[in-house]
Amino acid sequence: MTEARIPLLIDTDPGVDDALALLMAFNDMQSESGRHDVVGLTIVAGNVGLRHTVANALKLCEVCGVDVPVHAGAETPLVFAARDAAHVHGCDGFGDTGYTKAARSADSEHAALAILRLSHQYAGTLVLVALGPLTNLALALKLDPTLPRRVARCVVMGASVTAHGNITPAAEFNIAFDPEAAHIVFSGFPRIELADWEAVLAHGFLHADIERWLDADSPRARFYASISNDSRARAKASRGPRWHAADALAMALALQPGGALDLMERPLAVETAGQHARGATIVDWNRQGGAADNVAILMRYDQPRFEAMLEAALAAGA
Ligand code: RIB
Ligand code: CA
Repeated sequence: MTEARIPLLIDTDPGVDDALALLMAFNDMQSESGRHDVVGLTIVAGNVGLRHTVANALKLCEVCGVDVPVHAGAETPLVFAARDAAHVHGCDGFGDTGYTKAARSADSEHAALAILRLSHQYAGTLVLVALGPLTNLALALKLDPTLPRRVARCVVMGASVTAHGNITPAAEFNIAFDPEAAHIVFSGFPRIELADWEAVLAHGFLHADIERWLDADSPRARFYASISNDSRARAKASRGPRWHAADALAMALALQPGGALDLMERPLAVETAGQHARGATIVDWNRQGGAADNVAILMRYDQPRFEAMLEAALAAGA
């Protein structure tokens, strides 16, 4: 008897690196050897506005022949407005290629309600992967604080565990976009598996390699080549021979946790005040504060395994 697949719910703000993570999840779902079934995409504003992140999610599903429900969520952070990341991803979040919009529309159910419904439907087995600001998850938690009891794993791309931020000196983008939401989520879940920005920087892959992977004769490789072209070119010019796809590393951790070679369990708190440190994620490395460990911080992932997942995701459908 074939083993039941693991239900995967992805909260995301596509976003060029989100798209690569989604391609990894779709490939797992569509592969014989895969172990997951993507049961929903919940969409949040972040990299760009919600109108674009929803359209991008729908388009990527269409390119990959995936009929997964897409639920629009929070248009703004919980309390304060925040700057987007259009400078990284393009004004539309997908490289401003002018792609033809997907035929399908988003489901009418709000993302936060979909998260709660799916947590009951797949109680005890649901794997929740958050690739954007945590606003939708925070809303779901405020509606029902028992949500974590029904979630088997919560994997988050976010944070900068030694304050090497990417959007401010102290903070990583997903957390800095909605620190209040991040505080609610990191306080509400007993254990979050965390792929932070510094882990992302330690797991870059060569531009030459992804350019070769993008030569695959598949619609998804061609689509990804087009939407990521400008992002990759800017990164190549500014950051050297390796490219960093933050959400893809988090998705590797989610899909194949066996590839995590070193995880550190520690207490983490989110700074929501402060002129310089709003959005910083403070890890109590020496456990001085007495708080319980609430994050498993990814320190090292199996790089060849990660890159094999990336190559396979882009070649799928060839
Ligand atoms: O800091 C990187 C994160 O911010 C990624 O999730 C990227 O997509 C942006 O949302
Ligand atoms: Ca993202």
